Parts: sequence; C-alpha cells; structure tokens
Amino acid sequence: MIFVYAASEARLRRTYPADVSLEAPDVMLAARGQELVRSRGCMDCHGEALAGKVVIDEQPFARIVGTPLGLRQGESPRALHERMYRALHHGVDARGRSLLMMPSAQFASLSRREIEAMSAYVASLPRAKAPIPRSSLGPVARSLLATGGLDGFLSAERIDHRVPAIALEPTGGTFEQGRHLAQLCTGCHQPNLAGGRMSHGGPAAPLASNLTPSNERFAAWTREDFLRAMRTGKRPDGTAIDGRYMPWRAIGQSSDEELSALWIYLRSMPTEVGSDEP
Ligand code: HEC
Ligand code: HEC
Repeated sequence: MIFVYAASEARLRRTYPADVSLEAPDVMLAARGQELVRSRGCMDCHGEALAGKVVIDEQPFARIVGTPLGLRQGESPRALHERMYRALHHGVDARGRSLLMMPSAQFASLSRREIEAMSAYVASLPRAKAPIPRSSLGPVARSLLATGGLDGFLSAERIDHRVPAIALEPTGGTFEQGRHLAQLCTGCHQPNLAGGRMSHGGPAAPLASNLTPSNERFAAWTREDFLRAMRTGKRPDGTAIDGRYMPWRAIGQSSDEELSALWIYLRSMPTEVGSDEP
C-alpha cells in the first residue's frame, strides 16, 4: 500500500514546463467564447453554468470534480486567461502538475484565439457561490496509476509541451477547418478516428464508433445525415446515438459551416484502417 501511494504520487507530482504569459482577454470575443464553450462540451463536466460539477463519485475508485471555471476571489481576467491556457493547451494546474481527467490532449490544438475567446466568456460569468468538493483519488485509481494504467487520465502525459498553440483557427468550411475540429473527436474515437475502447469510459461504455469510410454503415451516410445526427442524436436508420458517452448535444451546437468542414475531413479519411487495428 505504501508502494502504491508513493508510486502514484510520483506520477501525480510530475511537473511539465508550461510557461505562460498572456494579456487580459479581449471582451469583444466573449460571444464567440460562449459558442465554443457550448459546442466543445465544457458543460458536460463543469456544469451548466460552469459553476462546477461532480463528474464521477465512485469509491474506491475516485471522486472527480470539474472545477468552477469563473473568476476566483482576487483573480484578474489576465490570470484567468493564463489558467485557461495552462489547462487547455498543457493540461496542467498552476504548479505545472497534470489535471485529472480533463481531456486536454484533445484541446491542445485549440488556437490562441479560441482559448482567448473562451477566457473572455468565462471571465464574464458571475462568481460561483456554492462550495464544491475537490477531486480525490481512492485506492483503485491509485493502484492503477502506480502500475502505469489509466492511460489518458493524466492529460499532460499525452501532450507535446514544446508545441505552442496556433494563433488562429482555420475557417471557411474547408478541409483544414475540419481537420482542426476533428482533434476534438480523437480523445474518444482515437487519433486515427477508427474508434475503439475509450480510455475513460469505464467497462459499461460502448465502443466509440469507427468514423472512417471503412465502417460500411457510416460510409453510407450523406452530409445531411451527419448534420441531422449531430443535431438530433439519431442515425439515419432511426437508432439513437448514446448521449451519455457521445457528446452530440454539445457538438450539435456547432455551426453548419463547422459541421460541414468536419464532414469533408471525415470523408477524406483513408479507407484501409479498421477499428480492430491500433
Ligand atoms: C470529460 C470532462 C471534462 C471536459 C469535457 C472538460 N473538462 Fe475541464 N476539467 C475537468 C476536470 C475533472 C478538471 C479538474 C481536474 C483536477 O481536479 O485535477 C478540469 C479542470 C479544468 C480547468 C482548470 C481549473 C483550475 O484548477 O484552474 C480549466 C481551466 C478547465 N478545466 C477548462 C475547461 C474548458 C474550457 C473545457 C471545454 C473546452 C473543459 N474544461 C472541458 C473535466 C473536464
Ligand atoms: C467523449 C467521447 C466522444 C467524443 C469526444 C466524440 N465521440 Fe462520437 N461517439 C462516441 C461514442 C461512445 C459513440 C458510440 C455511441 C453509441 O454506441 O451509441 C460515438 C458515436 C458517434 C457517431 C455515430 C456513428 C455510428 O453510426 O455509430 C458519430 C457520427 C460520431 N460519434 C461523431 C463524432 C464527432 C464528429 C466527434 C468530434 C467532433 C465525436 N464524435 C466526439 C464518443 C465520443
């Protein structure tokens, strides 16, 4: 037990270089920031008002809490912007340690402007009043961490911290925009989008679907089928996409341009990969 604690602590206390120096976010970007926060699924874990949410409370595994995101007591908008950049681009807290279960590896490709826009929005929220418990790890999570398990749970481990965020995101409904947006899908659908078991879904979770054209059922979809599925949670054959695991409610709040760009990118994927392959 002492070994488990020490080994898991060593992994949790590892620090990552995340030197960040930013200006206060431009308040004119707050409306765009609100759209981003909604469509990127932040509310699924940080709560409807971003005032915090208990995401998992399963002892002896862990209690994982999505922290309240708004300005803290005495915090300036500039410091909040830096906190957001550290969390989204590096997956670390103010000490440089990995956050728990925050899916930063899929957010690391967000542009500086997207992070600034979300910071502007978050800085405009009223301060959270209700106290909320902190994340804590039980013996099961500790022993998995100690033995090298829980891949993806400590997001900072999966990020190349030397790569700075791009300045501006691609736009215009293009392939490049689609590739940028598809980074948000890789956390569950895997980096090659061929699907498989999710690192953080738990044993009861369905497999994330194969989104490449080698999935015959998906290959038969049209662009309209895809947009409708993201907006309604229904496949063309009428079956429901499991919204407890697939965040279609959030993704469906993306603009038509964004969803069309994603579609162009998904249809360009090579066909030879299958969900059984790594
Ligand atoms: C799958 C759940 C999940 C999603 C989705 C998610 N987060 Fe998090 N986030 C967390 C958890 C859990 C923590 C707290 C981690 C900890 O306690 O170490 C966290 C921490 C953070 C922090 C650090 C807070 C601090 O301590 O300074 C920021 C900032 C943050 N998230 C922003 C966002 C934003 C913005 C989005 C959407 C783009 C987002 N998160 C989406 C789970 C999530
Ligand atoms: C938090 C995990 C997660 C993220 C992030 C995620 N998905 Fe999914 N997705 C799933 C799971 C799990 C399923 C299977 C759901 C089911 O079996 O009902 C799924 C299913 C789907 C389907 C239905 C395909 C089919 O016929 O089964 C589509 C389309 C899809 N996802 C697209 C996307 C796109 C595009 C993104 C990124 C913009 C994305 N997903 C991000 C977990 C995720």
